[in-house]
Amino acid sequence: MPEKQTTHAPRLILPRWHDLHAHFRQGELLRPLLRAHAAMGCAGILAMPNTVPPVAKVFPAGAAFDCWSIEEYRDLLHEAGGGGFDDIIVPLYLSEITTPEMIATGAKSGLLRACKYYPPRGTTNAEHGRPLNHYIQNGVFEALAEHGIILCVHGEEHGLPPEAYFDSGTNAETLFYKERMPPLVEKFPKLKIVAEHVSTAAAVEFVRQAGKNLSASVTPQHLLYTAGHLAQGCKYHLYCLPLLKFDADRAALRAAVTSPHNWQFFAGTDSAPHAKKVTACGCAAGCFTGGIAPQLYAMAFEDAGIDLTSPQGQDIFARFLCRNGPAFYDLPVSKETFTLVKEEQAVTPLATPEGDIVTLAEGAGLKTLPWRIA
Ligand code: DOR
Ligand code: ZN
Repeated sequence: MPEKQTTHAPRLILPRWHDLHAHFRQGELLRPLLRAHAAMGCAGILAMPNTVPPVAKVFPAGAAFDCWSIEEYRDLLHEAGGGGFDDIIVPLYLSEITTPEMIATGAKSGLLRACKYYPPRGTTNAEHGRPLNHYIQNGVFEALAEHGIILCVHGEEHGLPPEAYFDSGTNAETLFYKERMPPLVEKFPKLKIVAEHVSTAAAVEFVRQAGKNLSASVTPQHLLYTAGHLAQGCKYHLYCLPLLKFDADRAALRAAVTSPHNWQFFAGTDSAPHAKKVTACGCAAGCFTGGIAPQLYAMAFEDAGIDLTSPQGQDIFARFLCRNGPAFYDLPVSKETFTLVKEEQAVTPLATPEGDIVTLAEGAGLKTLPWRIA
């Protein structure tokens, strides 16, 4: 009888990573969402400020509209279990009430490390956003550059007619990176900018040629899927903003993140849970990847032809997942590790007090993932 061979599933041992773009919301959602991020090997998180109310001031005192301060929201995250992370960055939601003085005092206190530009009414809870020109003219961007505060940009043109918003030759993101970003970086060459959740070849191209003060976060959904995946069967759990794009865009993203010299593109999941995803006549934008993001990124790298069992492949993956983001944010790479094993993992929704949240994987029709966290 032949001897039974014991085979060992491939393993990837990686530094714990930073999800530098995620949504944790508020209230009873905080705790399960933070737990899901901790379970997928995160050392740090950047918690986006489009909460209800938004995080639109640095300190608790005074504001023209109902909002949280960075200090208050950070404390809420800590109380809900976020204390286990090495680092929590909460960007300031840029709005009508943001002033250069707020930036200066926030930066000096150490509480303010990043700001988030939302295109007015361009996405979930973006109604407090003001157009880019507002902050160019009122001195806010200049203050960011002066104090070394990172500007996180949701790069989509707002207020477009449907024909220009998403068409075969153009879309809101392409327009933004062709028309809005060039003058912005020219005017503020010292401003450090993260092009968030890039989804187009145009954005990738812009970031690549822009130099050392520009980096970009990339989500699992934009690396894995295209508009065709969303359209085929109207798989609304794949609906997010920016929208999934075309095969050529996905190819540009894959080429950028799998380049052996990549230092600009890093992991930022944009994990955006919506307990109520669809209504009678619409759909909330956001793909939920809490708990499964490294597995999905690994899948995407393999789809892009990277051999994650080879040392070279693992180095390329670790650059993207674990090293480039902390380098841009001036954070140490974690000395602790987590492990991905090439074994199937069933996909399940996340149970929360507000209802089950379906993941991107289930929404795409997957029953299992090829990797699991050991
Ligand atoms: O798909 C998205 N969901 N894009 C965003 O810009 C916001 C996010 C959310 O907060 O749900
Ligand atoms: Zn987001």
